[in-house]
Amino acid sequence: MLSLHLFIHLAATANFVAQFPLVDSFPFYNNEERATGSLASFLTFEGPIALQGLLNNIGSGGALAPGVEAGLVIASPSKANPDYFYSWTRDSALTFKALVDAFIAGNFGLQPEIQNYIYAQAQLQAVSNPSGNLSNGAGLGEPKFEVDGTAFTGAWGRPQRDGPALRATTFIAYSRWLIANGSTSTVTSVIWPIISNDLKYVAQYWNQTTFDLWEETDGSSFFTTAIQHRTLVEGNTLAEQIGQTCPGCVSQAPQVLCFLQSYWNGHYVLANINENNGRSSKDVNTILGSIHTFDPAAGCDDTTFQPCSQRALANHKVTTDSFRTVFAINSGIAEGSAVAVGRYPEDVYQGGNPWYLATLAAAEQLYDALYQWNKIGSLSVTAINQAFFKDFMPSVTVGTYASSSSTYTTLTTAIKTYADGYMGIIETYTPSNGSLAEQFSRKNGTPLSAVQLTWSFASFLTAAARRSGQMPASWGEPTASAVPSACSATSAQGSYAAPTATAPLSPCTTVSSVAVTFNVAEITTFGETILLAGSISQLGSWNTANAIPLSATDYQSAYPRWYVTVSLPAGTTLQYKFVKEESSGGTTYEDGANREFTVPTGCAATVQVHDVWQ
Ligand SMILES: *[C@@H]1O[C@H](CO)[C@@H](O)[C@H](O)[C@H]1NC(C)=O
Ligand SMILES: *[C@@H]1O[C@H](CO)[C@@H](O)[C@H](O)[C@H]1NC(C)=O
Ligand SMILES: *[C@@H]1O[C@H](CO)[C@@H](O)[C@H](O)[C@H]1NC(C)=O
Ligand SMILES: *[C@@H]1O[C@H](CO)[C@@H](O)[C@H](O)[C@H]1NC(C)=O
Repeated sequence: MLSLHLFIHLAATANFVAQFPLVDSFPFYNNEERATGSLASFLTFEGPIALQGLLNNIGSGGALAPGVEAGLVIASPSKANPDYFYSWTRDSALTFKALVDAFIAGNFGLQPEIQNYIYAQAQLQAVSNPSGNLSNGAGLGEPKFEVDGTAFTGAWGRPQRDGPALRATTFIAYSRWLIANGSTSTVTSVIWPIISNDLKYVAQYWNQTTFDLWEETDGSSFFTTAIQHRTLVEGNTLAEQIGQTCPGCVSQAPQVLCFLQSYWNGHYVLANINENNGRSSKDVNTILGSIHTFDPAAGCDDTTFQPCSQRALANHKVTTDSFRTVFAINSGIAEGSAVAVGRYPEDVYQGGNPWYLATLAAAEQLYDALYQWNKIGSLSVTAINQAFFKDFMPSVTVGTYASSSSTYTTLTTAIKTYADGYMGIIETYTPSNGSLAEQFSRKNGTPLSAVQLTWSFASFLTAAARRSGQMPASWGEPTASAVPSACSATSAQGSYAAPTATAPLSPCTTVSSVAVTFNVAEITTFGETILLAGSISQLGSWNTANAIPLSATDYQSAYPRWYVTVSLPAGTTLQYKFVKEESSGGTTYEDGANREFTVPTGCAATVQVHDVWQ
């Protein structure tokens, strides 16, 4: 199982691919093993890569985020076709929600990143932009910013009203931890003013149209409405905890929930309403809405579309089934077996392929549902969700099955396998270096579109966390699921104020030299030694006689590790290769092109580079 707390000592800045924090036992891994490896070993392999891949995309220390302001997240390092070198409020909030949850679960080394994020968002709230400015809150709906924290002024699908709601949810999750750890005054004085602006925005604008999370459709979006309800509920709870108030949360949350019911058409969840884009409205938007409003304390409530609700299960089947026929790589896969999932079946963007984050969301909803059934002690088959369950037990009839029943065991065992099947799709279509792009080809599964998509990595981390039983905190769903008898079009006018966070919350000290540990996995025989040769004087300037020997003190059969730590000036770019020296003194350089590495600039004083002999 993926255990994020192992990675506390992760340096925040690093080159991608094969760099992991040093852990006691690192699974040795190569392409041949990948072909036959179990899902568990893939998840163990991919976990640290996903976390590092995500951190690489965060300024200012992220290895793939040069010039990005501290705390800002780029969607991807890709600068052309597509150009994602901007900071989106939505992607950033979802990314940091995953990091905050990992932090709360024990990865305390992430705290400086979280604090940089808070400071950066405080600045962004006050930046006037094409959506507007802070005086009436309108500027908070701006979807993306330049990486230096200035406004993006080009044409775009704006506003996008999920951003403030997601950001508030992330800040609230961190605030709850601070309060539990005796830092209520930081929440009250620094973080609450930022959250409060976002809550006011949601309460004021939830009933106006918005561009959806895919930035294509202007109308009402299930994902946005679901998140808005959640954030108003937990925002009010936080306010009460710290002696503040959120009258707009109280007055608007029930109305947002009332409106949320309009997305249910009796068979599946409509992704978009109040628009006419000519599509089926089957869209993974709805599954994402369900997993990001999952409350582990909730029942299988239909009103909030909880992952185990009959609505969300029916929707899971309809939505995932819609991709069975459109993607060639899904052909021949029977209903009830996992498939590659895209955004929506009519999608043509960048080829309209499967997305890693969409496929991972399909897994995550099922892990959430399994958790809920287990906690409740039963599951219910109803007329609405029966087709979903029949995929796993064709004879199943409507009824409630206690966890002691064989029907419950049969269904939950099969659904766990089904969920793991979606992770297996990810395993199949993840390249051997573990990098997660935005999409993978509908024809042959090769990675496509933006490389190293931050949201893909975050989605991997949250799906793997749910699989391992790590659940997010409750947002208060059990007392906020009652729908008013009549819906009305309402709004609560807010008054906004520029946040008071005037300095980075946790300035870190930039280091001038970094202790770089080069690790290489290679099975050696007695008498053989591995050396490190490279282009810089510290590595012998390509003179094999001056190459530096690695140590085998941590060599294990599971991970035949050779390593050496070299102190190098921050920012140095070097080429290197590993060399095998026989006891006779003969040397052999490894195959392939020279490896390249740039020593990170930033605050991390140590970094690990992990390679496999080639
Ligand atoms: C903010 O936006 C409002 C409404 O569009 C406008 O009247 C006001 O001049 C703007 N203020 C600033 C400082 O740009
Ligand atoms: C923070 O609070 C949590 C929850 O109360 C607690 O389990 C944890 O030990 C605390 N951690 C620190 C560093 O104070
Ligand atoms: C506003 O709320 C009303 C009542 O729920 C609903 O009928 C209408 O579609 C909503 N419009 C938007 C754009 O949210
Ligand atoms: C990882 O592998 C894929 C597929 O071979 C390749 O396209 C991508 O550039 C690699 N990523 C990195 C960071 O090396």
